[in-house]
Amino acid sequence: MLAPVPPVLLSCGGMEEFRPNIITVAWAGTVCSEPPMVSVSIRPQRFSHEIISATREFVLNLTTVSMAKAVDWCGVKSGRDVDKFEGAHLTPFPSEIVSAPGIAESPVNMECRVKKVLALGSHDMFIAEIVAVHVSQELVDKRGKLRLEDAGLLAYAHGGYFALGKRLGFFGYSVKKK
Ligand SMILES: Cc1cc2nc3c(=O)[nH]c(=O)nc-3n(C[C@H](O)[C@H](O)[C@H](O)COP(=O)(O)O)c2cc1C
Repeated sequence: MLAPVPPVLLSCGGMEEFRPNIITVAWAGTVCSEPPMVSVSIRPQRFSHEIISATREFVLNLTTVSMAKAVDWCGVKSGRDVDKFEGAHLTPFPSEIVSAPGIAESPVNMECRVKKVLALGSHDMFIAEIVAVHVSQELVDKRGKLRLEDAGLLAYAHGGYFALGKRLGFFGYSVKKK
């Protein structure tokens, strides 16, 4: 019932034995600032679980409202049966450090290396360090500040996809002097 959460597209593979694949993941989170680390929880039955267990790397791609259908599609089809980059009309681009490609349509791509795997029950949690980040240049303003609020980020809550609403404040605004 924790909601909303970001429905991210995790791209993996891209090595000889695994062609690039994409899995939609809603059970994802930030778990550490220094070093920057994220977690993703994935069922062992998923093809992507097999790939990440073998390669120990992936790219986390944030998603936008215009990607909603692709997000859903990548979450109901398996890379065992289809090429998801082709089927979802998503564009792979080469990563800097890991072998898995990023997704060009995403506003932010985080290259990750797995550090720990926790078997929790239905899902295994992959805890990974972010080793490189890419952001869409059209979201960077003249002063070099990332305008993520202009990306049209997608949210997932209780089985539904939502566009984020209007901004109500910013970090620390409740104590800012007028
Ligand atoms: C919105 C959404 C969120 C999902 N979140 C997760 C998740 O957090 N963990 C997981 O194992 N599967 C999750 N899934 C299911 C997988 O994305 C789905 O089983 C997918 O087909 C697996 O692809 P693969 O076999 O190519 O790895 C989610 C699906 C959707 C539509």
